[in-house]
Amino acid sequence: MSPDNHTAVSFERVSKSFGTKEVLHDVSFQVAAGEALCILGRSGTGKSVTLKLIIALLRPDAGKIWIEQDDITTLKTEGLSRVRRKMGFLFQDAALFDSLTLYENLALPLLRLTKKSQEEIDSSVDKVLRQVGLGADKKTMPSELSGGMRKRAGLARALVLEPKILLADEPSSGLDRITASEIDELLLQQKTERQTTVIVVTHDVHGARRVGDRFAVFDKGHLVAHGTAGEVQSSDNETARQLISLPC
Ligand SMILES: Nc1ncnc2c1ncn2[C@@H]1O[C@H](COP(=O)(O)OP(=O)(O)O)[C@@H](O)[C@H]1O
Ligand SMILES: [Mg+2]
Repeated sequence: MSPDNHTAVSFERVSKSFGTKEVLHDVSFQVAAGEALCILGRSGTGKSVTLKLIIALLRPDAGKIWIEQDDITTLKTEGLSRVRRKMGFLFQDAALFDSLTLYENLALPLLRLTKKSQEEIDSSVDKVLRQVGLGADKKTMPSELSGGMRKRAGLARALVLEPKILLADEPSSGLDRITASEIDELLLQQKTERQTTVIVVTHDVHGARRVGDRFAVFDKGHLVAHGTAGEVQSSDNETARQLISLPC
């Protein structure tokens, strides 16, 4: 049965292996529309694989993955493109084209995937660059950007098509605390001001606690806790309790 109208993303008993290695085992969770879910877990526990399953860069071996009312495991190319248009993805490495200026990087998806005029594209790119604090950097090449600016540029690229669902894979990793909290603010702003559903994989528990309404903790391919910070803190899984606790 398809999820209700308030559910943005739903995993139903999803498993995924690579060769003989099972990376996700029987994982089920739901993300309500407009909420922020933070995915926590040690390295190699299937967090990035989970995001890639959501945008169907990877396909599960078993289970259903609903994006709103569509089970994407049954969709073919055309249906998938329609569903992917609802999502923006901030990749771990920002995934910018190095030979294109920032403006060109952001204009590209609009040129390819929308019928916007040149003026409309200019105005959309301007708007999103201002939103992430890079309004003066239209002509900058990605190689000239600092780590924090690069993440913000990647975020702008994820947001330029005005997605209903924003996925971010370790958006603040490798950044100093102040720059990391600027990225967290932008994610939070996206949720509160635009009601975007946000799913973030993060190692930064400070940021997670600031941005997340709910948390999913993965351990060795299992979802070991899922709920509010309080619920995860009182979970009977020790790894989950450790990961959600703020360092003293
Ligand atoms: N495309 C792939 N092919 C084979 N193995 C993969 C692939 N993607 C991920 N894995 C493996 O799946 C496991 C989980 O990966 P990942 O989801 O990237 O972990 P993390 O929780 O650190 O993001 C790792 O052991 C990784 O090596
Ligand atoms: Mg990862």
